[in-house]
Amino acid sequence: MEVFTDKELMRRWSRSVRAAGETVALVPTMGALHEGHLRLVELAAREADRVVVSIYVNPTQFDRAEDFAKYPRTLHSDLKALEGSPCKAVFAPTEMYLPGNTTWVTVDGLTEHLCGKTRPGHFRGVTTIVSKFLHVVEPDVALFGNKDYQQRRVLEQMVRDQDLPIRVVAAPTVREPDGLAMSSRNVRLDPTARLAATAIPKALDAARAAFDRGERGVAALSEPVRQALIAAGGTIDYVEIADDQTLAPLPSDRHVAAPAVLAIAAFFGGVRLIDNVALH
Ligand code: PAF
Repeated sequence: MEVFTDKELMRRWSRSVRAAGETVALVPTMGALHEGHLRLVELAAREADRVVVSIYVNPTQFDRAEDFAKYPRTLHSDLKALEGSPCKAVFAPTEMYLPGNTTWVTVDGLTEHLCGKTRPGHFRGVTTIVSKFLHVVEPDVALFGNKDYQQRRVLEQMVRDQDLPIRVVAAPTVREPDGLAMSSRNVRLDPTARLAATAIPKALDAARAAFDRGERGVAALSEPVRQALIAAGGTIDYVEIADDQTLAPLPSDRHVAAPAVLAIAAFFGGVRLIDNVALH
């Protein structure tokens, strides 16, 4: 496995792989790799001949400086974890933005809802950095996890709107045995908050079961989720049922009549967690 910190050397490696007739998959990450990332790498290896993992804690997508400072930086153990995986190259730049950078990539519409409401500038940071990675690595395929449902949808839209010749693959959410979605943030949960956070998958499963039994009322599906998270000690950022196409939240007096997603963001022990379940 090769490790690049330099953009040009990374690009050269990728171009030589593609010149030899092989395809490249990119798995962008911010490090602090866990089992969920490794499953993404395995999926990537089924989608292309060579897998590149990027590791970079992107400052421009953090809306709170404190969150950026606290984000785990574990490059040494990340590289160790990748050694046993099908990853063939790691792109771990120390800096991605040139001094005086004033260019941003933004996606309108989809970014205005859900996390976009309470995390100003977050998606602009994500789309800008992923666009930069796509220009450096020039992959055939890029993979994003469905836990970050809105992020995946926004990046698909960016790739499409920018005519990038890249296939975006959505990977299923990987869960702990007790159902909690795997996330680099989970290590920041103290034992009490970790236990309480299992209310998230339980509440989403219950909503999905109600949907499967025929319940279509937006309030009837989302209100029990809200109550369950509060009862478990969570602080809600949002619990919304959103239209799957636009991600616009459905008003609580409506019914789910088209494919939708029930998405939540909630704080447990001061750690912001997100998760979602498809309603279609
Ligand atoms: O999902 C993440 O880890 C990040 O948002 C991403 C896509 C690597 C961009 O920094």
